[in-house]
Amino acid sequence: HTYSPFDFIIFGATGDLTTRKLLPALYYRYLDGQLPSNTRIIGTARSPLTDEDFRKRAQDGLNQFVQEEDHSPEKIEDFIKLIYYISLDGADPNGKWADIEKLLNSDKANTVRIFYFATAPRLYGDICDNLSNKKLLTKTTRVVLEKPIGTSLATAEEINSRVGKHLPENHIFRIDHYLGKETVQNILALRFANPVFERLWSSDSIDYVEITAAETVGVGKRGGYYDGAGALRDMVQNHLLQVLCMVAMDPPISLNADDLRNEKLKVLRSLKPMTDEMIKTDTVRGQYTANTVNGEQMVSYLEELKKDKSNTETFVAIKAQINTSRWTGVPFYLRTGKRLAEKTSEIIIQFKKSAWSLFPTAPQPNRLHIRIQPDEGVSLSMQVKDPSKSHTSLRSTFIDIAFSPAFHIRYPDSYEGLLMDAVKGDPLLFIRRDEVDAAWKWIEPILDGWARDVIPLSQYKSGSWGPQASQQLLAKDGHIWHEDMP
Ligand code: BG6
Repeated sequence: HTYSPFDFIIFGATGDLTTRKLLPALYYRYLDGQLPSNTRIIGTARSPLTDEDFRKRAQDGLNQFVQEEDHSPEKIEDFIKLIYYISLDGADPNGKWADIEKLLNSDKANTVRIFYFATAPRLYGDICDNLSNKKLLTKTTRVVLEKPIGTSLATAEEINSRVGKHLPENHIFRIDHYLGKETVQNILALRFANPVFERLWSSDSIDYVEITAAETVGVGKRGGYYDGAGALRDMVQNHLLQVLCMVAMDPPISLNADDLRNEKLKVLRSLKPMTDEMIKTDTVRGQYTANTVNGEQMVSYLEELKKDKSNTETFVAIKAQINTSRWTGVPFYLRTGKRLAEKTSEIIIQFKKSAWSLFPTAPQPNRLHIRIQPDEGVSLSMQVKDPSKSHTSLRSTFIDIAFSPAFHIRYPDSYEGLLMDAVKGDPLLFIRRDEVDAAWKWIEPILDGWARDVIPLSQYKSGSWGPQASQQLLAKDGHIWHEDMP
């Protein structure tokens, strides 16, 4: 794809996301030759910085977040020349809008304009009102909205309505970086280009599904945001439910964005609503406590936050059920948490055991393990004849594809492709407004039940796999989490 020159304007440019993700992603695409020479990346935030100050910050960030093998001081020098900074509070109608108007209007050749909203979501409406009043929303403008959109169904609706007043839906790109992950996109290929799997993809053959996004990091410097959000809003409402949609959806009728999103929406709308009774048996919330992990002392969530009390969950496990002909009876166990034993995101498809066995040993089910990160790949557990024993003995092994060595390619960060899709105007991997609503509709009763302490907030040690209750959630159904499988 060849790109026309574009202006990429970031609101909230002094934040973590810009340094860690957005600028490195654009740098990689610059190395790949996808940023035409008059592309401009314009950071805006309230801090009074000059272009030079901001370029220096960008350079420091790139030095830190670009892989060593892709790190070239000369290339970084060239790249940062594309960067500008304007000190502006995007939510303030009386801010210094003249500066940005002048800069944007100074280059008529840059037809595509992307406004990237990396501020607190409650400001999205104000920023859009201002952009509209200043006539900065052209026909080829697209806005990218970071998650979480709102903190509840009502606040999400409010944000979406205010943004929607100024731009048509196909110019609003709600980003979920999990959809930018190669292995998440690969679920489509795995399912719909390999009949061997799709023919088994239902309650007829699948026993249960696990979706895990585990992190070893704590909340770090994001405590201010995180303590008001919690893991359910930060990870489940968006990333985990999107992955669940990719695993559970019916085949879309085409790869057109709306056809794919229609199928994801059907899944979200089929999620069995959570009653208080279900919240008691099917949900777990936890918060990490201090512990030594690999010889290193990790402080508790409260200590990290410097607070005496907080009811915010840093761990969630939920048994979700999908009321459709394909999935009724198949639990989807979702789990995410900070300060867990490993950094890993994965999907386990546990197939049913055969009732009958020709062999003396108990029949073993097959298991498909989709590794989203790190170490992207897929493996399928298998029973084979044990070569060292008699002809009736079996041994478990697996067929494994590790993608990066198999294809000899660099695995791009999830933001790279998504940012360029926004520049191209391709919404396939972005979230439609009705998906946001449907996800919040399912999440809200859980938030509400937890706020009423329908279940207690459990504690778990840093470096563990979460509270005991998480193991029990599966044990009640006779199932176990992947790391406990033999
Ligand atoms: C973000 C969350 O959306 O995803 C963070 O806000 C979390 O809290 C991050 O750390 C995890 O993303 P990844 O790509 O590292 O799994």
